[in-house]
Amino acid sequence: MSSSTVITNIATLVTNDPSSGDGSPLGLIQDAAVVIDGDRIAWTGESSKAPATDNRVDAGGRAVLPGFVDSHSHLVFAGDRTQEFNARMSGRSYTAGGIRTTVAATRAASDEDLEANLTHYLAEALRQGTTTFETKSGYGLTVEDEARALRIAARHTDEVTYLGAHIVSPDYADDPAAYVALVTGEMLDACAPHARWIDVFCEKGAFDGDQARAILTAGRAKGLHPRIHANQLSYGPGVQLAVELDAASADHCTHLTDTDVDALANSDTVATLLPGAEFSTRAQWPDARRLLDAGATVALSTDCNPGSSFTSSVPFCIALAVRDMRMTPDEAVWSATAGGAAALRRTDIGRLAPGAFADLTLLDAPSHVHLAYRPGVPLVDGVWRRGVRVA
Ligand code: NIG
Ligand code: FE
Repeated sequence: MSSSTVITNIATLVTNDPSSGDGSPLGLIQDAAVVIDGDRIAWTGESSKAPATDNRVDAGGRAVLPGFVDSHSHLVFAGDRTQEFNARMSGRSYTAGGIRTTVAATRAASDEDLEANLTHYLAEALRQGTTTFETKSGYGLTVEDEARALRIAARHTDEVTYLGAHIVSPDYADDPAAYVALVTGEMLDACAPHARWIDVFCEKGAFDGDQARAILTAGRAKGLHPRIHANQLSYGPGVQLAVELDAASADHCTHLTDTDVDALANSDTVATLLPGAEFSTRAQWPDARRLLDAGATVALSTDCNPGSSFTSSVPFCIALAVRDMRMTPDEAVWSATAGGAAALRRTDIGRLAPGAFADLTLLDAPSHVHLAYRPGVPLVDGVWRRGVRVA
């Protein structure tokens, strides 16, 4: 029989279960307790009503929320791009071209070095409360290098995304059509067994709408589900294509027309906002308020990668979203937990309700609002993953 643990004396519990607690989307319970049985949540409610269990943890009058679901990262890479960042902070602008620097470093790295790098950033993210992460290939751009990136990623997460279509490989600079044929043919065959998702960077300097449609459709035929890097650097067809193909997520969504916003609001495609990218590229902020007011589902993620957003910190992204994207603290916390789960089409994570995975974060603060109220302060004080305390 699995052992059970009760966490008591929780000042504020975020359940993301509107049927419990205060009835808000966050399903807040004050003076709460959570019971964990094995790897699942067994019970949530008021502390005074908590059932007896084998083990007891005192939260000390602090806040507990679901572990963060980082539904967009690029963590299989080698090297860094400090010089490019420095140049940007001196006035240079961000382009997709910098990706080539990381492609060269990644191709040159051993499997061991790539995995050690991935493990390093995963541990960093876990310490900051991330209990689920999605990650992508996209810095190999050959059949072998893309497949090995996915094999390495799949050893650490179920949420693996094939992004052979990050940019046209430098080896095919003179023949992009041949590269699209590779991405939808031999490379897809080698990669599909290791991935759940297929992604494409639909942008000037990367892939246009027709190429993106061909790539995602080919992936779908091999059992991969689409998600898209859409409308990051300019207006374009990415968001509309995401909705047309019922992609789980349109990521970035920085440059949106009213039609794009309407399309998202009337679809199951989540708008995943990545404010670390706008921070690190000094770009305009995505308009989260406009999306939320229209009724779209919004997720918040890090986009952690060495080029456009080298942060693994979801709390940092929450603070940016509240300060600069006009989200309320409640909305930002929901988007970084339940929103991320929606962007991965998951209901077993991102919420603390009976039956869900016991992925929890304990804050050294009395409420989740402190994640935005106390920016830059390492507030995550405990992390449970699948019922086991891991930080
Ligand atoms: O999501 N936009 C495309 N890909 C990444 C950036 C990758 C890089 O610059 O290395 C992004 O921002
Ligand atoms: Fe990205």
